[in-house]
Amino acid sequence: MDDGRTIDSEMTDGKMMDGKTIDGKTRLCGLIGNPVEHTMSPVIHNTLAGHCGHNLVYVPFLVEEGNLADAVRGAYALNVLGLNVTVPYKSAVIDSLVETDDLAARIGAVNTLVRTEGGYKGYNTDMSGLYRAMVSEGIRIEGEEIVLLGAGGAARAVAYLCGEQKAGKVWLLNRTYEKAERVAEEVNAAFGREVVVPMLLSDYEKLPERKFLAIQGTSVGLAPKEDDVVIEDAAFYRKIHTGFDLIYKPFTTRFMRLVREAGGEAYNGLKMLLYQGIIAYELWNQVEITEKEAALVYDRMKREMGIS
Ligand code: ATR
Repeated sequence: MDDGRTIDSEMTDGKMMDGKTIDGKTRLCGLIGNPVEHTMSPVIHNTLAGHCGHNLVYVPFLVEEGNLADAVRGAYALNVLGLNVTVPYKSAVIDSLVETDDLAARIGAVNTLVRTEGGYKGYNTDMSGLYRAMVSEGIRIEGEEIVLLGAGGAARAVAYLCGEQKAGKVWLLNRTYEKAERVAEEVNAAFGREVVVPMLLSDYEKLPERKFLAIQGTSVGLAPKEDDVVIEDAAFYRKIHTGFDLIYKPFTTRFMRLVREAGGEAYNGLKMLLYQGIIAYELWNQVEITEKEAALVYDRMKREMGIS
């Protein structure tokens, strides 16, 4: 069909196109990764396009191992406006870009490709998304004493964000000490100061006697293993004034419950997901998404997860 057609809410069960018309001017954005079928990104971007009145469609692209460079080159050739990148390609995709933003290059992970002259430029909106989610909840990083749990890909990126946003001190606790040490060395070298202090997870009792912002960056507690948590001890949670779990499935993690039971405030990672999408959308479309629009998308995401 080349005569343009409307895919309306009825035809798509209200989930895809928000009544938009696909025509000769429709722009395409998408997600490349493997797997991609559980992604919430189409909900974020198609809802934003609907609210903003942009003629843009966002779809997931499953990219099989070995096809990444072809996928990026092909997308550029097809005039695709922008792409998100997810597991397992966030690092590997850097080789297919014409330019990489500073923070993304330091982290070594890119989740957003923006079309520029001659190719795509890579950004890491996961981290700027986390920062904006924290700002929207009134959580500060600058000057803060932070406990960061984990030293994998996600936690490592958070450590860079903390360095960039001038955190006071980051106590990086990990089950495998060597990984915490490596991240600390890298981040401290990148920012020219001793911002990250590596520690063994089981040494949490040695943390200074004070209140911390705690960021949960391990994969422990992720659905379906919702009852798991990295640290059980209530004494640890009494040292936390605010807990931020990067996990959003389940919506309330065991870590969050333990923080709240000890009197702290706790947040999940859904707003980080929301804002990483919003920042990507802003980069692609050169617009600013308002907090009101962000709230509409957030409600839609919660509905998608079955949370009212
Ligand atoms: P991601 O990309 O989500 O960060 P990852 O790179 O595999 O995933 O990192 C997983 C993190 O969760 C690591 O910090 C890991 O600790 P190790 O470095 O010691 O492996 C942490 N993690 C996973 N399972 C854990 C468990 N049962 N107890 C404590 N930490 C755990």
